[in-house]
Amino acid sequence: MKKLISLLLVTVLLCAAIPVFAEETSAHVLVVYFSHAGENYNVGVIEEGNTAKMGKIIAEQMGADVFELVPVVPYPEDYDSCLDVATREQQKKARPEYEGEIGNWDQYDTIFIGFPIWWGNIPNIVYTFMEAYDFSGKTVIPFNTHEGSGQAHSQRDIEGLLTDASVLKGLAVRGSKAQSDVEGTDAEVAGWLKSIGLAE
Ligand SMILES: Cc1cc2nc3c(=O)[nH]c(=O)nc-3n(C[C@H](O)[C@H](O)[C@H](O)COP(=O)(O)O)c2cc1C
Repeated sequence: MKKLISLLLVTVLLCAAIPVFAEETSAHVLVVYFSHAGENYNVGVIEEGNTAKMGKIIAEQMGADVFELVPVVPYPEDYDSCLDVATREQQKKARPEYEGEIGNWDQYDTIFIGFPIWWGNIPNIVYTFMEAYDFSGKTVIPFNTHEGSGQAHSQRDIEGLLTDASVLKGLAVRGSKAQSDVEGTDAEVAGWLKSIGLAE
């Protein structure tokens, strides 16, 4: 009887493990992004950040895996407090931690890196990520949302930091468009991917 119970237990455990393996993909493209939900400029209080929406559109069109940079210490929900925290982080050159890590990094040859423009810059948490991994031989494509600054100098900053990667021309989309015009953003992303040779 004991043996039978053990056998049943092993079978149950094995079955439970199957979905974990099934979730692993063979994708060679990864979309990594940071995005802030809550109150934001021009969009009110949002459940999902603008860059997250854009990132998911890119991932869908590219058949890519997604890794979201989720801060260990969440940013304040309200816009003004978030502005203050971002100012302090930039002044201190902080490197805020994010949850988890990308265990299968070598699997990916193409990495999209997405973020909102914060005070004309790439948010510090994205630097935490970019400084943590080896980008040599990878193709990197920045994307961002904003409310007037476009890419600011983020393209140049990424090219200056990830010198071992080949950095393609990024795309900047207005946050309010990414948030509410899914069709328009989808079309803009499709045209951009074509223009940089990643789609037909
Ligand atoms: C802290 C902070 C600073 C910002 N600074 C800028 C800026 O310098 N230029 C700009 O165009 N938009 C700026 N914005 C607006 C965001 O870039 C824009 O709303 C973006 O779409 C937010 O994306 P998210 O929802 O993915 O976080 C700022 C927003 C925040 C919260």
